[in-house]
Amino acid sequence: MKNRRTFLKTACKPIVLATLGIPILEACSTEEISESSSPSSTAPSVNEKKPLVINLADSSFSDLTEIGGWKNYTQEDLLLVRISDDEIRAFDNRCPHQGNRDRWEYDGSNFTCQYHFNTYSNSCSGSLICFSTTFEDNILTVTFS
Ligand code: FES
Repeated sequence: MKNRRTFLKTACKPIVLATLGIPILEACSTEEISESSSPSSTAPSVNEKKPLVINLADSSFSDLTEIGGWKNYTQEDLLLVRISDDEIRAFDNRCPHQGNRDRWEYDGSNFTCQYHFNTYSNSCSGSLICFSTTFEDNILTVTFS
């Protein structure tokens, strides 16, 4: 059993004050809250995501049949654009400015986010995160690494 002096040194201050009849609102926990914690921290990172295989024969991808065609594939958070007969590029559809994903336009060479009208090149050396793709026999495979 602790003696009184040890108790007063080690006990949480609000508890000590409460035993003396002095109410005070303060937490006793000594656990620090990490600023890096977030609800999404348990979601798989892009590097852990398995390759995505898309059959472009599916009518929902008809926008990609012509060169210059594009699609904001929101179910997979991707911007897809047909560059040539044998190349389709895939980008993360998260706007580098503030992270919005849902309002994009494309002019044939640049994507424009409709929130603040910043534009991003369709090249893989621009600000949008570009993923590796292969395209063969109407099957597009996107690799997230
Ligand atoms: S969020 Fe896209 S331009 Fe601002």
